[in-house]
Amino acid sequence: SSVRITCTAPVNIAIIKYWGKRDEELILPLNSSLSISLHQDQLKSTTTAVASPAFSEDKLWLNGQEKSVQESRLQALLHEVRRRAAKRPLEDVQREEEVVESVNSEHRLAPPSWHVHISSKNNFPTGAGLASSASGYACLAFTLAQLFGVRGELSGIARRGSGSACRSMYGGVVRWTHGEQADGADSIAVQVIPESYWPELRVFILVVSDLQKAVSSSEGMRRSVATSRLLQHRATVLVPELLRKAEAAVKAHDFPAFSQLAMCDSNQLHAICLDTHPPIFYLNDTSRQIMRLVHAYNQACAEIRAGYTFDAGPNAFVLTTARDASKLLGLIAHFFPPQTSNSKRYIRGLPLTTD
Ligand code: DP6
Repeated sequence: SSVRITCTAPVNIAIIKYWGKRDEELILPLNSSLSISLHQDQLKSTTTAVASPAFSEDKLWLNGQEKSVQESRLQALLHEVRRRAAKRPLEDVQREEEVVESVNSEHRLAPPSWHVHISSKNNFPTGAGLASSASGYACLAFTLAQLFGVRGELSGIARRGSGSACRSMYGGVVRWTHGEQADGADSIAVQVIPESYWPELRVFILVVSDLQKAVSSSEGMRRSVATSRLLQHRATVLVPELLRKAEAAVKAHDFPAFSQLAMCDSNQLHAICLDTHPPIFYLNDTSRQIMRLVHAYNQACAEIRAGYTFDAGPNAFVLTTARDASKLLGLIAHFFPPQTSNSKRYIRGLPLTTD
């Protein structure tokens, strides 16, 4: 006998960035953050988990390759799911079975003592320079929660894998609230705007480099927290205001305001990276050329019709609306012609919607 579940989770793009932890172990952030989840028709992670009393250990395959399950964050996530599953009230089991039945055709839940075999895949190339850990850990958390019948708030489980993963538990516009509690119980993600709210919004992902980044975001954050005084000011004073304004801009479908806030926040993150000692450089010449192109486009339109945001790497997320999408993509293709195969400097545009 075995229980099997398959689920998917979206990629999310941070508009107001998470940078800095107040607790490394529990992955609790110094500041709240805001992201948009991309449509799952385009980019997503898919996880299948099978639990069986016949398995003698947990196993994991990422994109078909077996990986060690000893990694500490994976262990923390698995432990957290099983801990919650063990607290499941017995009288709930029948009702939970009905819930699981609607997700999958299986009729049972796995007891938390059973070992799991997990296969996780992305429908976008790894090494495309996209953060796959957020959608991957979110998907893992959700799938295991279904398998073991864990209900209620699940983003706190995904967070144990990677901070940004908790935002991939929802579609649309999502806020991860930093929370106050030492155990992280209130450091959770909430959907602030549903998927269908702003269908005109578009995101292009421009892959500038598919090389592994030199400084991981975890390491970069650790360094910034230890050395940047700008970070302290950002976390406590600047982010609360940015968040409030960004949420208001989304609610009002105010693209110029939304896009301006996204650019400011991204530039602020990279300013903090420069203020970090020793400094961290995530952007390269191509990233900066993309920034210039976006500003030139806006100037020519005499209005903000495009924006950009960069995570801990040189790849650009270009924001725009349906009205400007093809014109902007044409300009991008003109100035940054796609280069093939093993060239380190190529750009690929993926039109993405968030509806
Ligand atoms: C720049 O979530 O990858 O993309 O919590 O250590 O796993 P860990 O870090 P991670 O950091 C993401 C940083 C960012 C901004 C963001 O996504 O908010």
